[in-house]
Amino acid sequence: MNGGLYIDPMNLLHHIQDKFRTALKDLVPDVEPYVANVKATQDPKHGDYQANCAMPLAKVLGKKPRDIAQDIVNRLALDDVLEKPEIAGPGFINLRLQSAWLAKQVQAIANDDRLGVGFVQPARRFVIDYSSPNVAKPLHVGHVRSTIIGDALTRILRFLGHTVTTDNHLGDWGTQFGMLLYGYKNLLDKDAYNNDPVRELARVYIEVRNLIGNEGEDEDAATNPVADACRAETAKLHHGDPENNRLWQEFMPHCLADLHTLYDKLGVLPFDHEHGESFYNPMLPAVVDSVMQAKIAEVGDGGAIIIRFNENNVALIRKRDGAFTYTTSDLATIQYRVKEFKPDAILYVVGFPQTQHFINLFEAARRWGYRDIELTHIAFGSVKGADGKVLRTRDGGTVELGYLIDEAVRQGRAVVDANSPELPDAERAQVAEVVGIGAVKYADLCQNRTSDYIFSWEKMMAMEGNTGTYMQYAFVRNRGIFRKAGIDPQTLRHNPPTITLGTPHERALAIQLLRFEEALRAAIVEYQPSGVTAYLWDLAKTYSGFFQNCPVLRAETDALKQSRLLLCDLTARVLQQSLQLLGIKTVERM
Ligand code: ARG
Repeated sequence: MNGGLYIDPMNLLHHIQDKFRTALKDLVPDVEPYVANVKATQDPKHGDYQANCAMPLAKVLGKKPRDIAQDIVNRLALDDVLEKPEIAGPGFINLRLQSAWLAKQVQAIANDDRLGVGFVQPARRFVIDYSSPNVAKPLHVGHVRSTIIGDALTRILRFLGHTVTTDNHLGDWGTQFGMLLYGYKNLLDKDAYNNDPVRELARVYIEVRNLIGNEGEDEDAATNPVADACRAETAKLHHGDPENNRLWQEFMPHCLADLHTLYDKLGVLPFDHEHGESFYNPMLPAVVDSVMQAKIAEVGDGGAIIIRFNENNVALIRKRDGAFTYTTSDLATIQYRVKEFKPDAILYVVGFPQTQHFINLFEAARRWGYRDIELTHIAFGSVKGADGKVLRTRDGGTVELGYLIDEAVRQGRAVVDANSPELPDAERAQVAEVVGIGAVKYADLCQNRTSDYIFSWEKMMAMEGNTGTYMQYAFVRNRGIFRKAGIDPQTLRHNPPTITLGTPHERALAIQLLRFEEALRAAIVEYQPSGVTAYLWDLAKTYSGFFQNCPVLRAETDALKQSRLLLCDLTARVLQQSLQLLGIKTVERM
C-alpha cells in the first residue's frame, strides 16, 4: 500500500461526515441523525455533497434555518479539504471538495490494490443461503437469479472485510424426490438412464408432474392416485426404506455433478457447504421436541403439530402422518448454522413467492430464542419473456439453465465476431463466454432485485448503455490506450505522477473514482447489487465525458499526459474490480 497521503480508508462521504460530527457536537446531544443528512448531490450545480441538517436542527433549536446553517459553516473545519461552503435556499449547505486535495487522494490510491476501499469495522459474520435448487427438477431461469445475486453479495461482503459462509440449501429430500422415485420405478427408459441419468431423470420428473396435473409449484397439494403414490414414496424415503434410500444415494451424485457443471460454466464461487434438506433430517424429531418444550408449538387438528402466529396463520411442523415439513427443516437449519458458524446474520436469497414462509420462519425462530441474529429474506422478482409472461424458449419450452448458458455463449460469440473478426479463433471462443455470461449476469444484477424484469438478449448484449457488454468494452478500450502507446501501467502505479484536475471532466472522474467504497457500502446496506451497477454506469459515463474532452496521449504537456494516463488506469481498475465483485470477468480484447 502506498504511504500515508490520504485518510485511510478513502471514503469522501465519511470524511465530510466526520467534519460535521465535530462541528455539530456542541449544538445537540445526539448528532448522528444530523450527520446522516450529509449526502452526495444529484446535480453538480449544488456542489459535490450537500448537508440538509440545518432545517431539522432549526426546528429543535427554535432558530432560523439559514442562521443555523451559517453557524454550522462557521464551526466547520474546512482544512485543505473543502472550499468555503455555500448556503442555498432555505438553509442547504453546499459542499465542494478542493481540487488539489482530490488530486492528492487520487495519486495516493494509484498503488493501492484495494483502490482506496477500506475494511468495514466491525466486520460481521454472514451465512448466505442461495441458489438452493430442488435437485430433482431441471434448473430453470428462476434459480439463476438466486445464484447470481447470492454470488455477488458474497463477493462484495467479503471484499469489504466481512466473513461469509456460503451454503447451498439443496432441496434433496422433499416431494420432488418422491416424484422422481415414482417416475424411476414406473416410467423409466433404462437405456436412456444409463446413457445420461440426469437427462432421463429430468424427463421422468416432467412426465410425473404432467400426470399429477398441477402445472403450478404445488405438487404437494394435488389429490390423485399418482400424487398419492409419490407422497408414499417420499414417506418411505424419510422412514428409511432401504430401496428408496439406495436410489437416493444413486441419484444424488449424478444430480450434483450436473449442477456443478452448470455452476462452473456460470463462473460462480464454489459453495463452502451444500447441506441440503436431507442433511437436517436426523435433527428434526429433536427440533419438534424442543419447540414443544419451549411452548411455542401446539398440537392441532388430528394430532398435527403447529406453530400459531394468529387465527389464520399457522406453520405446520409435523403433519398428521408424522412427516416433517420445509419449516421444520429450516428451523433445524437455523439451529445448526448458529451453532456451527456463529453468524451475526443469515441471508436467504429466495424469490418472492416464499415471503410468507420466511416471515413465519423468522418469527418462530425468534420465539425459539434466536433473537440477536439478523434473519433476512433477500427476495427477488421473476424473469419474464418479451410478452410479459414466463420466459420460454423459441419453441415454447421452459428455459433451463443449461440452454440459457449455451445461448449466452452463442450471443457473446456474435458480438466478438462482429467486433473483432481478426482475433484468433480460440481467443474469440473464450471472449464469447466472458461476454455472454457477463451480459446475463449484468442484466440481472442491474435491476433493483425486487422488480420483475424482461429478459432480452438484444438489450443485454448492446454495446451502448448500462450493460455488461458496454462495461467490458469500456475496459478493453481503456487498455487499448496503453497498448497503443506502449506504456506499462505498472510504472505509473509504482511511481504515481502528480495529478492535475484542471477541467470539470477530470475533476468529476476523480470524484467518481474516489467514491468506490461509498458505493459498495451503500449497495450492501440494502443488499442490492444494483448499487454497484449504478456506480459502474456513473463511472462509465463520467469516463466517457473525460475521454471525449481531454486528450490523453496528445495532451499539451507530458505532465498532463501522465496525470490523465493515471486517471485512465484507475478507471480501468475500478471497472474491473467492480465487475469482479459482480462475478463478471473482463478480457483484454473483444
Ligand atoms: N429449495 C427451495 C426452492 O427451490 C429453496 C430453498 C431456500 N432456502 C431455505 N433455507 N429455505 O424453492
